[in-house]
Amino acid sequence: MAQISVSSGHKRKFRERLLKWYAHHGRDLPWRKTAVPYKILVSEIMLQQTQVDRVLPKYREWLAKYPTMEDLAGAPLSDVKKTWRPLGYNVRPVRLHSIARESVARYGGTLPRDPERLLAFKGIGRYTAGAIRAFAFREDAPILDTNVMRVLHRVFVGKGDAKKQKTLLWDLSEAMIPKGKGYDFNQALMDFGAMVCTARDPYCLLCPMKDFCKTYPFRPVRR
Ligand code: ADE
Repeated sequence: MAQISVSSGHKRKFRERLLKWYAHHGRDLPWRKTAVPYKILVSEIMLQQTQVDRVLPKYREWLAKYPTMEDLAGAPLSDVKKTWRPLGYNVRPVRLHSIARESVARYGGTLPRDPERLLAFKGIGRYTAGAIRAFAFREDAPILDTNVMRVLHRVFVGKGDAKKQKTLLWDLSEAMIPKGKGYDFNQALMDFGAMVCTARDPYCLLCPMKDFCKTYPFRPVRR
């Protein structure tokens, strides 16, 4: 996909309005009250294919059972898999366990902040590395999951299939971050995608981006 150009005015409006919306409507979530890399890692792996409401009780149970990277690394995989139930996508506990073991073996039970070192872990991809950098280390690192992809694609691209424009959307995600505010901005994007710019029937009338959104007014394709 070719480049798209976003005017500096739209970029500024998007940042300002998103952060303002988040200050009023952002969710109070337990992984937003910690900077411990292990806890951020657990939350982000759990949230990858699963909605916040289902993650919340499991996140608490998990941390009660495995409070640290060392506790998780030392637990038998069969127990870890059992504890994961019923979240599903069961490769995730296997990955989490393997990341914990690698972390203990190579980094004393913490995670590196350097993107290349993070990406060298089996089980940490570009999304998880970005989330750890932004949420544990407060770096202005971009993230792109299905929610963020949908929001950026609708507001700034408006045509074609978002999944086929990942390079462009990663670039946009990076370019949009206001300097020094990667933490709030990225958390805000997640909440905005989950609460306003939802996959089906988005709340366009309430949306603070509607005057420049490339997809407004959203018309669902009914099959
Ligand atoms: N989905 C993925 N990461 C998230 C986060 N940090 N907060 C809310 N939803 C998320």
